[in-house]
This record gives sequence, structure tokens and C-alpha cells, in this order.
Amino acid sequence: MIYPIRAYGDPILRAKCQTIDVFDGELNQLIDAMYQTMDASDGVGLAAPQIGKSIRLFMIDSTHFSENKSEGIRQVFINPEIIRESGDEWAFEEGCLSIPEIREDVYRKPSILMKYQTPEGTIREEEFNGMTARVIQHEYDHIEGVLFIDHISAFKRQLLKGKLNNISRGKVNVRYRMKFPKRG
Ligand code: NI
Repeated sequence: MIYPIRAYGDPILRAKCQTIDVFDGELNQLIDAMYQTMDASDGVGLAAPQIGKSIRLFMIDSTHFSENKSEGIRQVFINPEIIRESGDEWAFEEGCLSIPEIREDVYRKPSILMKYQTPEGTIREEEFNGMTARVIQHEYDHIEGVLFIDHISAFKRQLLKGKLNNISRGKVNVRYRMKFPKRG
């Protein structure tokens, strides 16, 4: 099943998501559907609120970024916590499936130590670096109700106001299915 992606302006994208405590077949079906949804939109990551579920779950596919696919990972993170971020901040032009046609430089630290659960409920602690860490940080923000445009300057955000308003109204060219909060 492919879900429509919730667009900028949808209040669910601004909510802090709930902890998951049942690891069952239903959760696994949701994970499968989210992978299908992410792949159908060529996303490198997808968080549950983007498909209308306010729960602490996201997945990433950072294999797109390297020619040698083994450098990236394709993985689900449940109830994740970022224990530590380290290194000198670096900029990269980020985008988001919920905010199409907008890309802006975002500064993030290059190394993170994560604690999370697998779809089976197993607790893991692991370090991630570079582009994989960046995609995780972006998706982690989503389950906290934070969007990448929150990391840019107020001045730049002001310049994007019209475009953002158009996105929430569905006035945007996007080839995957979306759900717009202000479409009449
Ligand atoms: Ni995003």
C-alpha cells in the first residue's frame, strides 16, 4: 500500500510523536507500506508523521548517495534517541517529500550515536556518520515535529513564505501522491 505524503502545513508534521510499545504484525505491515511509499517517491527517508501516523518510527535509504551502494544503509528506526552528536557541522542542501521543490543548506554534525529498536523490539546502540547520519537527523527531526526549514535563517524562511503557502494549498508540481491541508 502506498500512502499519500502529508504536505507542509499539516498539523501532524508539527506534533511530537508517540512511543511505540507493540511490536506485532500490524507494525510490520505499516513498515512494508512505508518502504513502498518511500520508494515510490524516490525518497531517501520517510517518517511516520509524513503518512499521517504520529508514532516514533522512520526509515532511511542512504544507498542512493553513494556509487558503492554498500556505503549506505536501508534501515528502520523505532523509538530512536540521539545520544550524542559530534564533529564539526557541515552544510548540505536538504529537501523533504513533505516540502517539494524547496532545497536549502542545513548545517548538521557529522557523527551520531543512536539508541533505537528494531521491528522485533530489540534495543540497539550504534554510531552513524556522514550522509547516513544526516538523513537520520532529518528523519529524527520529523518525529519531534521539526522540519528542515526550521534550521535555516529567519530571513531565508521569510523568502520561502509564498512557496510554502502554495505547497499547503496543493499548488505544486509533484509526481507522487500527496495530501494537502488547505486544498479546497
Ligand atoms: Ni523530510
